[in-house]
Amino acid sequence: MNLQKNSLHTLTKKYHIVNVPLGNRSYPIYIGTNLLKNIGELCVDHTIARTVVIITDEHVARYYLPLVKRSLEKKKISVHSIVLPPGERQKSLETAEKIYTKLLGWNIERNSTIVALGGGVIGDLAGFIAATYQRGIGFIQIPTTLLAQVDSSVGGKVGINHPLAKNMIGAFHQPQFVLADTSVLKTLPKRELICGMGEAVKYGVILDKKFFSFIEQNLNKALLGEHTIVSHIIRRSCELKAYVVSRDEKEQNLRAILNFGHTIGHALEHAGKLSLLKHGEAILYGMIAETNIAFESGMISFADQERLERLIKRIPIPSLSPLRLKNAKLFETMRNDKKVKDGSIRMNLPYTIGKISLPMNVDERLIHRAIDYVKLVGV
Ligand SMILES: NC(=O)c1ccc[n+]([C@@H]2O[C@H](COP(=O)([O-])OP(=O)(O)OC[C@H]3O[C@@H](n4cnc5c(N)ncnc54)[C@H](O)[C@@H]3O)[C@@H](O)[C@H]2O)c1
Repeated sequence: MNLQKNSLHTLTKKYHIVNVPLGNRSYPIYIGTNLLKNIGELCVDHTIARTVVIITDEHVARYYLPLVKRSLEKKKISVHSIVLPPGERQKSLETAEKIYTKLLGWNIERNSTIVALGGGVIGDLAGFIAATYQRGIGFIQIPTTLLAQVDSSVGGKVGINHPLAKNMIGAFHQPQFVLADTSVLKTLPKRELICGMGEAVKYGVILDKKFFSFIEQNLNKALLGEHTIVSHIIRRSCELKAYVVSRDEKEQNLRAILNFGHTIGHALEHAGKLSLLKHGEAILYGMIAETNIAFESGMISFADQERLERLIKRIPIPSLSPLRLKNAKLFETMRNDKKVKDGSIRMNLPYTIGKISLPMNVDERLIHRAIDYVKLVGV
């Protein structure tokens, strides 16, 4: 299949393809402007099922559901849609059960395809449905937030939350393709753009010093949503994620580096009851805290710790003060984290900007100190 030479090429030249090489589960990520209207043609090119179920949320549906539906129906694809309220709380077993009931009611068969149209919440939830309904059906990701375009739509990690901890129930289920249309970011609230920037900064720290410098130099333009800058950030982040995922699809070792900032970040997100602090914002604070542990352990220089902190402080994120953080409560969440091994809290810590360790056990006293440190930084 040579999509570049076939129909997509005639549709638009404003796209770029990043491949995720995973043997017979390989797939392309299409990145470009105004691509949403071409989803029907892409589905035909990829021989997607004749019946699809779009899962989306109310915000995204308002702007983009009619366009996506029209494009699919033009290609004689039968479309069902499920529109959920927005927000992290939808990543639950309760919502999943309601969706299964709808799918069964519509007699959705095994050869149908789930289309995730939305941010990371919709992508994770819809992917989980696709991974589990009838033991696994086809799946397409159309990420509509920056966070989903730079990170969550790629790599096949899908799942839901448990009331006690985030992302604890899930699967690896790769999409058939990912369509990242950068035009949809025009309607994205600024706070959501910032969340995406959090994951992009993470890629710079763990793998690519040059990319980190690019973000440093272009942060203001990126936060204003300047198209060429944001497009580069999406493309480079996808390339870096594809590199990691293709070497370690199921997180046996290397893929764990993507969790940088997430152990403490998830605990902070949870402390904010999944609403005071958004995922990407929590990860930005999580990176400050985990880098502090690296500094206190003698792994990273003061200059590099300062450099990362300087960049993060330029990004407007909410103060941590309203969360009234209690270290003991944060530890309780961290102990329920899936990265815990044999009872030890494990993290990937940076050696320098652009290089990170594999997961390592971390002394709990250093975690306490890092939490106190980030509370001070985040007042
Ligand atoms: N699977 C993975 O590898 C992975 C990686 C990172 C994060 N995640 C998960 O991603 C989730 C966070 O995703 P998110 O930050 O995209 O949040 P989200 O999906 O809740 O979207 C944020 C908000 O933006 C709105 N929105 C989405 N696209 C829009 C658009 N184009 N215009 C206007 N509004 C729009 C949504 O309705 C929502 O209100 C978390 O649950 C996190 O655990 C998963």
